[in-house]
Amino acid sequence: MNQPATLTDQIAVVTGASRGIGAAIARKLASLGAQVVLTATNPNQLSKVVAEIRAAGGRAESRTCDLTQPEQIETFVRLVLETHGHCEILVNNAGVGWFQGPLHEMPPETLEHMFAINLRAPYLMLRAFAPTMIAAKRGHIINISSLAGKNPVPNGAAYAATKWGLNGMMVSAAEELRQHQVRVSLVAPGTVRTEFGSGLSSQKSALGAIAPDDIASIVALLATQADESFISEVQIRPTLKK
Ligand SMILES: NC(=O)c1ccc[n+]([C@@H]2O[C@H](COP(=O)([O-])OP(=O)(O)OC[C@H]3O[C@@H](n4cnc5c(N)ncnc54)[C@H](OP(=O)(O)O)[C@@H]3O)[C@@H](O)[C@H]2O)c1
Repeated sequence: MNQPATLTDQIAVVTGASRGIGAAIARKLASLGAQVVLTATNPNQLSKVVAEIRAAGGRAESRTCDLTQPEQIETFVRLVLETHGHCEILVNNAGVGWFQGPLHEMPPETLEHMFAINLRAPYLMLRAFAPTMIAAKRGHIINISSLAGKNPVPNGAAYAATKWGLNGMMVSAAEELRQHQVRVSLVAPGTVRTEFGSGLSSQKSALGAIAPDDIASIVALLATQADESFISEVQIRPTLKK
């Protein structure tokens, strides 16, 4: 807890918080004083991250939610709002990828699964939390996109489509919500050293992949910016390409 506690009155929901980037974001927001609600499908992994945050002096709890199931998202959001009555920060981070071949060889159910988690779930989360944020005239919805949402991705076409889609959806929602003092932002990383996809990032050189904590620092910057400031998008690359 070596940072000033600037988010002490805020509830922060982080999806995909059981490992990787989401766990790093949850730890960072908790270190800034937020009460963090972590969600993913693996309860043991979630409990581990919650225990780490509490051991460091932070406030955290977890609830499982399978983001492919709209009714589970609805229940999750209802329970968060019943418990806390408000939510200032939503980080749509959970995501899955498929990079095993060209689009025409990808099974249709893989596309549906990826679209449900990477694109429909952020929409359903925004839909469920936005009314509370609008009523409070305060809120920040931070979406972890990807540089795959800016570029062609051979052998990852459907993943790229989810992130191009997420970008289009969220820059549009940002314009809808900013009049209510609710900010919607995008963070678009290149390769991050996590278990994501086929774990290729573990083969990168030390400077060839971003650390999850680097993404968490960007999210912290967005969440702590001045009221009048709206950083709408951040792109972040590894220093080296390889
Ligand atoms: N790593 C990279 O190189 C990279 C680069 C650019 C963008 N990104 C984006 O960053 C985000 C986080 O990726 P990461 O690298 O941290 O990946 P990761 O280590 O594979 O973590 C993915 C997270 O998503 C959760 N998740 C997966 N399926 C879910 C479901 N059906 N319902 C709820 N949660 C689910 C996982 O938890 P459970 O397994 O417990 O459900 C896990 O917490 C993703 O949106 C990804 O597209 C990653």
